[in-house]
Amino acid sequence: MRLSDAKIPQALAALGVELQPGVALSTLTSLGIGGTTDLLRITRHDRIPAILDLLDRHNVPHKFLGGGSNLLVGDGELPWVVLQLAKPDPDVVLDGNLAHVDAAADLGRTVTFCAKHDLGGMEGLIGVPGTVGGALRMNAGAYGTQIGSYVQELKVYRAAQRKIEILRGDQISFEYRHTSFAPDDMMLAVTLNLPSKAYREIIQGIRICNEKRRASQPMGQKSAGCIFKNPPGASAGRMIDELGLKGLGVGGARVSDRHANFFVNAGGASASDMLRLIADVRSRVEKAYGVKLENEVVVWSV
Ligand code: EPU
Repeated sequence: MRLSDAKIPQALAALGVELQPGVALSTLTSLGIGGTTDLLRITRHDRIPAILDLLDRHNVPHKFLGGGSNLLVGDGELPWVVLQLAKPDPDVVLDGNLAHVDAAADLGRTVTFCAKHDLGGMEGLIGVPGTVGGALRMNAGAYGTQIGSYVQELKVYRAAQRKIEILRGDQISFEYRHTSFAPDDMMLAVTLNLPSKAYREIIQGIRICNEKRRASQPMGQKSAGCIFKNPPGASAGRMIDELGLKGLGVGGARVSDRHANFFVNAGGASASDMLRLIADVRSRVEKAYGVKLENEVVVWSV
C-alpha cells in the first residue's frame, strides 16, 4: 500500500516516523517471502498513539513488524502499511540483575550482552532469531527456556485502548508459544530479571544449545523456524518425518531435510507456495494421526 496523500508523510515526519516507500517485505523476513508496501519506522514510543490516530483518520490499515523471523507475508502489493520500531542506542541497559531492553533489540545479541555481564538464564534462546519484542509476543522458547519466565515489567502499546501501558510480569499470561496480548498490541520495552551466573558457565550452556540446534535444525537456510506448534505430548516434526514428508515441495517451498517442522524457501518460493505446502502437510497429518496441527508461524495473508 502506498501513502498517496502527500499530507500523511509530512504529518508522520513531524511525529518522528521515517517513511520508506515501497519496501519488499521479502527483504525483512527470514523466509525471504513477502510483497511490497510502505514501511514506517518509529523512533519515539510516546508518539505511537498519535501515529495510529493519524493512520486511522486517513483509513490507512497497518500491521506491526518485529524481526520478521516467525512470519509468512503474502505476495504482491500489500493492502496495509507496516510499522516497525527503530532500534535505539543503547538498546539494553543493565541495573544489577535487571536488564532494561528495547523491543527492537536483537534477541541473540541481548542474550550474549547479558552473559558478558554475568547475567544468565536465557542460554536456550541463543539461536532463536528475531527481536526481543517478537520473542515476547510469542513467548519464544527453546531447550527448556522461555522468555516470559524472566519478565519483571513490560511496556506495551494497547491497540484497543490506544494507550501505552506498563504491566508487571505476573499480569501477563505466558503460555506455550502464546501470550495474553491482543494480536495488534505492540511490545515496546521490557525489564528482565535475570539470575547471576558466571560468564564462563553461561557460555558453556550457550555452546551446548548451539550444538543441539546445529545437529537438528536447518541453519543458514531461509525459514521461519517451526511452522506448526507441537500438539500436547507430541512433536509435529516427528509426525511429519514419520510420514516421509521431508523434501516434499510446492514451487520453491520445501519441507526441510533436516527438521520436518521447518519449511524452507529453497529459492524463489512465493507465499502461496508456502501456504499450499502448509495446507498439504496439515491435511496429511490429520488423515494419518487425526490431529489438526496449528500454525506456529504467523501468517499475514492478503
Ligand atoms: N524429530 C524427528 N524428525 C524431525 C524432527 C524432530 O524425528 O524431522 C524428533 C526428534 O528426534 C526429537 C523430537 O522429534 O525426538 C523433538 O524434536 P526437537 O527436539 O527438534 O524439538 P521440536 O519439538 O521439534 C521444539 C520447538 C523448537 C525448539 C526445539 C528445541 C516447537 C514447535 N518447536 O522443537 O522451536 O527450537 O523444541 O527446544 O515448539 C520454533 O518455535 O520455531 C522452534 C523451532
